[in-house]
Amino acid sequence: ESPLRVALLGCGTVGTAVARRLVDRADEFAARVGRPLEVVGVAVRDAGKPRPESGLDASLFTTDADELVTRADVVVELIGGIEPARGLLISAMKHGASVVTANKALLGEDGPRLYETAAENGVDLYYEASVAGAIPLLRPLHVSLAGDSVQRVMGIVNGTTNFILDKMDRTGEDLADVLTEAQELGYAEADPSADVEGHDARAKAAILASLAFHTRVAAPDVSCEGIMSITSEDIRAARKMGCVVKLLAICERRQDERGDESLSVRVHPTLVPRSHPLASVREAYNAVFIETELAGELMFYGQGAGGDPTASAVLGDLVQAARHKVTGSRGPGESAYADLPILPMAQV
Ligand code: NDP
Ligand code: HSE
Repeated sequence: ESPLRVALLGCGTVGTAVARRLVDRADEFAARVGRPLEVVGVAVRDAGKPRPESGLDASLFTTDADELVTRADVVVELIGGIEPARGLLISAMKHGASVVTANKALLGEDGPRLYETAAENGVDLYYEASVAGAIPLLRPLHVSLAGDSVQRVMGIVNGTTNFILDKMDRTGEDLADVLTEAQELGYAEADPSADVEGHDARAKAAILASLAFHTRVAAPDVSCEGIMSITSEDIRAARKMGCVVKLLAICERRQDERGDESLSVRVHPTLVPRSHPLASVREAYNAVFIETELAGELMFYGQGAGGDPTASAVLGDLVQAARHKVTGSRGPGESAYADLPILPMAQV
């Protein structure tokens, strides 16, 4: 049986964990997909760098990502940032590949264009790992709750800032010292200002709001304040008040007296009483509450960052996309709501 061709773009914190698992559990993947998966190439910046921890043959590494995406059945993008990731994913889909990405910055900026390209080319576009790392959150929100009406999504969606705020609370250390530790543990973005200034959480809030409310919210629509101005004195003051400081993403549906709907989507540091479940979310864990008309309250909790946890979500998407290639079907069709009206944003 001919294998399905998988191209990896990026072999850093997440890409290495994905590659390692594909190598170590090749038989399991073959059984779950229905055909073996073969990694046909890995695009990186430095193709000569030894990467024994990936488990992949050195001959697979290339700097020619443009060529690689033309000869794959599924492309897994783990480079990050807008370009070249966007151009590579669009090219991959135009060449008939389904795509899996963990790239929230790209989805938050240009999601609809990606959905449209996927729909036009009859391929899957999956991005479960882009919000809240390992937590199965986007598929439940988009697919399982499609018959309900989501009113509010609120939570901790950035592991780096939660790690920093939690450590500052427990040790009294300053933000800068703790940020270095979060970077060393592989939680932070390549440019960690995306984490501490709230832009990573803002992109995730845009993705959550788009899926929850079946509309289009882009990252610039989301009001955003990061944690750069939070000092150890602020943390101590919060402690005296029986609170912790958490960076929250909040997406709410609002209705005015005439019944007109609008959305409020925002990211900002928030005082959370220690008795609240969000206060006990430690280290790089994430937690997301969802309130709906029928289901009531739902809560999702798990590791929001790091190589292996993120690989779990990426590989789940890869299995799904690869199975669809085998069976000739398509996924939930994120493009289905790309043409829905855009709900107005409420002033914060
Ligand atoms: P890293 O910075 O660790 O790895 C990035 C990889 O991309 C490296 O292998 C790098 O090559 C390669 N790369 C960078 N630029 C290019 C380019 N122009 N062409 C080809 N390859 C390139 O990132 P992460 O693994 O941490 O993150 C990857 C993605 O996953 C990002 O979108 C991130 O936001 C997302 N994500 C990360 C999580 C985490 O906890 N780290 C969690 C959830 C999502 P080289 O090795 O040669 O430098
Ligand atoms: N830098 C991100 C975070 C990675 O800390 O949450 C996971 O998306």
